[in-house]
Amino acid sequence: MTAHIETAKITLDINGENRSLIVRPADTLLRVLREQAGLTGAKPGCENGDCGACTVLIDGAPFKSCIILAVEAVGHKVTTIEGLKGEPIQKAFAEKRGFQCGYCTPGFIMNCHGLVINHPDADDETIEEWLQSNICRCTGYEEIREAVKSVLFLSGTNDGDKERVGENDGFEGNKI
Ligand code: FES
Ligand code: FES
Repeated sequence: MTAHIETAKITLDINGENRSLIVRPADTLLRVLREQAGLTGAKPGCENGDCGACTVLIDGAPFKSCIILAVEAVGHKVTTIEGLKGEPIQKAFAEKRGFQCGYCTPGFIMNCHGLVINHPDADDETIEEWLQSNICRCTGYEEIREAVKSVLFLSGTNDGDKERVGENDGFEGNKI
């Protein structure tokens, strides 16, 4: 006998597009984004809320999609790395070499994008605190800090890093 698995049709606003998706009540947002919506930018790392590889924005604030149910996101705006179109923070990560293997990178970029849009005046302490949400096993974090500061500097709010992000029109950040 085949066990009956309850499913429901929900609509999620993902990257500005309404997506109709069939989900189970216990499906995480991460699983649904990757397996139902075909958006694999958010990565499964720990799947326990610790590493930040799965970070997406919900209504403009960063959340770990591995510990949020897909049904909880109904009625909210979900933004994934695929929804960023050449944002300054994407260019900054590339130009400051803020990644090595890149597995953690989409989550870092989403978290840092959240920082830039929510705290454009972030000081070093705020940046440090914000970066604690994500774990990278490859870099020393210095390049990531530099990337964030360069974007804040572009907006004229943080003078911690005087080296501006250069022009790089060829970079397609959402292909990370
Ligand atoms: S996979 Fe979500 S926090 Fe690690
Ligand atoms: S670049 Fe490899 S884990 Fe962060």
